[in-house]
Amino acid sequence: MKTIGLIGAGHIGSQLARLAVANDYNVVISNSRGPETLAALVAELGPKARAATPVEAAEAGDIVVVTVPLKNYRSVPVEPLRGKIVIDTNNYYPQRDGNIPELDNESTTTAELLQAHLPTSKVVKAFNHIYASELTTHGQPSGSANRRALVIAGDDTEAKASVTRLIDQFGFDVVDAGPLREGWRIQRDTPGYGPRRTAEELRKDLAAAKR
Ligand SMILES: NC(=O)c1ccc[n+]([C@@H]2O[C@H](COP(=O)([O-])OP(=O)(O)OC[C@H]3O[C@@H](n4cnc5c(N)ncnc54)[C@H](OP(=O)(O)O)[C@@H]3O)[C@@H](O)[C@H]2O)c1
Repeated sequence: MKTIGLIGAGHIGSQLARLAVANDYNVVISNSRGPETLAALVAELGPKARAATPVEAAEAGDIVVVTVPLKNYRSVPVEPLRGKIVIDTNNYYPQRDGNIPELDNESTTTAELLQAHLPTSKVVKAFNHIYASELTTHGQPSGSANRRALVIAGDDTEAKASVTRLIDQFGFDVVDAGPLREGWRIQRDTPGYGPRRTAEELRKDLAAAKR
């Protein structure tokens, strides 16, 4: 795993790019307006970073992060992500994303929507419940007392193991919520969504979540 592709380079995408470069990954970042609009971020990130189109970022990444407003998930390129690990940071805000009936009636979850759009990719939900700014300020080395933890969910065990290693490198413990369909336990308005939590606290939050 040497290259992380990013589809979306806003609050979360830019912060994950900073963490990736700091941990010696190459990053290929992309947005909706085109690589030239990412020149300042690429300059800040240095020689391990380049800007590209979403298709190129998807092709280049060993792991690819989708971090766009949920309403745009259908524009994520499907073919170049075939068989790849795809991290989904997305949350549902109807005032931003418009109403999505299958989320309103709770028959599915945000990451399951992306998984259905990317049927052969291995989608892992991660980084959706931490404020972007805290990604680069709350990380601590493995084994630190009271280390902050982040939740993952996913249907592919190996993909989850890879994402767990990545999150640990980035400075956080990991709590596995189970398959993608359990991802609602860490969606907007659940106890674990937002605050700084250790792994033990997050496990309690997941158990206490109500739909
Ligand atoms: N902000 C947070 O603290 C936070 C925390 C956890 C999770 N999240 C979730 O993570 C996702 C991203 O949040 P954010 O705050 O980073 O959003 P943001 O700051 O608005 O950035 C969104 C990024 O996605 C890009 N984008 C939009 N549509 C695209 C498309 N069709 N193809 C490629 N790129 C596209 C945008 O590019 P352009 O600027 O060129 O349009 C921008 O770079 C959201 O679902 C959000 O709910 C956010």
